[in-house]
Amino acid sequence: MKLLFIGDVFGSPGREMIKEYLPKLKTKFRPQAVIINGENAAHGRGITEKMYQQFIENGAHVVTMGNHTWDNREIFEFIDKATKMIRPANFPVDNPGKGMVFVTVGGKEIAVINLQGRAFLPPSDCPFRKADELIEEAQKRTSIIFVDFHAEATSEKQAMGWYLNGRVSAVVGTHTHVQTSDNRILDKGTAYITDVGMTGPYDGILGVDKDMILKRFLTSLPVRHDVAEGRKQLSGVIIDIEDKTGKASKIERILINDDHMFFE
Ligand SMILES: [Fe+2]
Repeated sequence: MKLLFIGDVFGSPGREMIKEYLPKLKTKFRPQAVIINGENAAHGRGITEKMYQQFIENGAHVVTMGNHTWDNREIFEFIDKATKMIRPANFPVDNPGKGMVFVTVGGKEIAVINLQGRAFLPPSDCPFRKADELIEEAQKRTSIIFVDFHAEATSEKQAMGWYLNGRVSAVVGTHTHVQTSDNRILDKGTAYITDVGMTGPYDGILGVDKDMILKRFLTSLPVRHDVAEGRKQLSGVIIDIEDKTGKASKIERILINDDHMFFE
């Protein structure tokens, strides 16, 4: 099983990159499964139904979310019918939506889990204990388990990688928007990266207009957060997983921008 994960799609520049490059990435890498983090799709905050459907039409099998899940109010109207969308599983128990989904691709079932960290993010249930619970459930059906851990602290993300080592196929970090170069296979067969990186503006600050963020740093005054214009980037990982055991054998980074050209 080859799995392509694309990191935090930010605003219209991110959505345009998906439209342009997802078909090319599929031709080049031939992944059976495609997962996209879409929590920043709507101007950096949340997602609309149309955007979710567009991702599915573009070839995503699952869309994961994060701390901006509820920021676009439209989500409350469609999350319960969006069968391929998950939000962090450790949100309060009666929140709408779900945190784990099973999808069948190429005759193989995959469990996809979304969790959110607790360091420097709003309070939530323990992501580690929640992972235990969901993995136990998932293992009854499949050995291929993918985790998108949406978290701020590198330490918390590494901790999750080691905690789930050997129990899941992959733990990929999202949220901090800058791709880390620590992609590796942990010693019990779990693919890991601290952060996949962001898909969207290339010349902003984490996707936002750089002048606005600079103003904030220079004046400490509140500023609007508009999506940066101009050049674009795409960040992702491609993971090879052995179908029978669910163990990963390879995790490769994908970074497309004007400093890292894409070769078909
Ligand atoms: Fe986030």
